Amino acid sequence: MTPSPKPTVVITGATGLLGRTVLKAFQESEKYEVIGTGWTRAKEPIQALNLLSATEVDQALTRWKPRVLIHCAAEKRPDKAQEDPEAAEALNVQATGHLARICAEQGVFLVYISTDYVFDGEDPPYMPEDGTNPLNFYGRTKRAGEIQVLETEGSSVCLRVPILYGEAMDPAESAVNILADRVAHRKPGIDLEMDDVAVRFPTNTADVARALLAMTHQTLAGQTLPRIMHFSSQESFTKYDMCLIFADILKVPHEYIKPVKPTPGPATANRPRNSALAIIQTRNAGIPVQTVDFTSWWRAYLAIKKQ
Ligand SMILES: NC(=O)c1ccc[n+]([C@@H]2O[C@H](COP(=O)([O-])OP(=O)(O)OC[C@H]3O[C@@H](n4cnc5c(N)ncnc54)[C@H](OP(=O)(O)O)[C@@H]3O)[C@@H](O)[C@H]2O)c1
Repeated sequence: MTPSPKPTVVITGATGLLGRTVLKAFQESEKYEVIGTGWTRAKEPIQALNLLSATEVDQALTRWKPRVLIHCAAEKRPDKAQEDPEAAEALNVQATGHLARICAEQGVFLVYISTDYVFDGEDPPYMPEDGTNPLNFYGRTKRAGEIQVLETEGSSVCLRVPILYGEAMDPAESAVNILADRVAHRKPGIDLEMDDVAVRFPTNTADVARALLAMTHQTLAGQTLPRIMHFSSQESFTKYDMCLIFADILKVPHEYIKPVKPTPGPATANRPRNSALAIIQTRNAGIPVQTVDFTSWWRAYLAIKKQ
């Protein structure tokens, strides 16, 4: 008897910060045939698939016949989304809507990665069913992407995550990694002014990947998950706090890092003050919610980077 083939999982955005780690976690689990897709950075074995082309998406999914699709691809930079709203909307809303419809038609379980920026940050912590009120255009496109997914009949989950960090090809890929880089490469005589108002819950991409694996195992075992879920580290820091941690690890004197209360300029998108995501429903659904310790992870990562 031939063994039954492993279920196929497609991961979009597999050339990006989160998708790369998700791809690795699914490959390492050895339970799935894993296909990662990217666009401008796609190189074998990652498949180039332009999500803006409905025809190419339809052809690829018909060929690959996945059981699960983890949709990580997006324009995730709030300032860039505001600068080029049509491009952000095409990818974050229209392409997501098309994926939701084709996944529903083909019986594919879809996970759409969303964001804590769907909330305004005025009344944390937020439960999945709480009312949304995005403060910037990026957040509005991600919420509109959620609506596309939620209004499509089919097996799907919107998984909201906060600011992410992890193994990056370039520190600019993550709003946290870039802070570590700025502390490491501080220019002599120039202080680093860091926001000490907005509270963030930096979450490691490997922890999100572990949750996605568990969600996939459970769904393929026949369990139904809530349509909206939250995943977040529960450790909170301002950007100033994070820079002090990086300064300790990198032995940079604290006096070079100054706490500030920033005022958004015309080119910068408004951001929520504290959009803490409550994770109790995710835990109750049996998904592992434990996360790495921020300081320990960075101590180990920066030590490897120094070698
Ligand atoms: N990073 C965060 O702090 C954060 C926080 C909350 C939520 N999220 C959400 O998490 C998800 C992953 O974010 P990320 O940080 O991993 O993003 P990222 O590093 O910017 O990666 C974006 C991905 O989208 C792909 N992409 C862009 N245009 C495409 C197109 N036309 N067709 C196909 N693929 C395209 C990119 O491919 P190429 O590079 O190959 O072109 C890349 O793989 C997003 O949904 C984001 O909204 C992120």
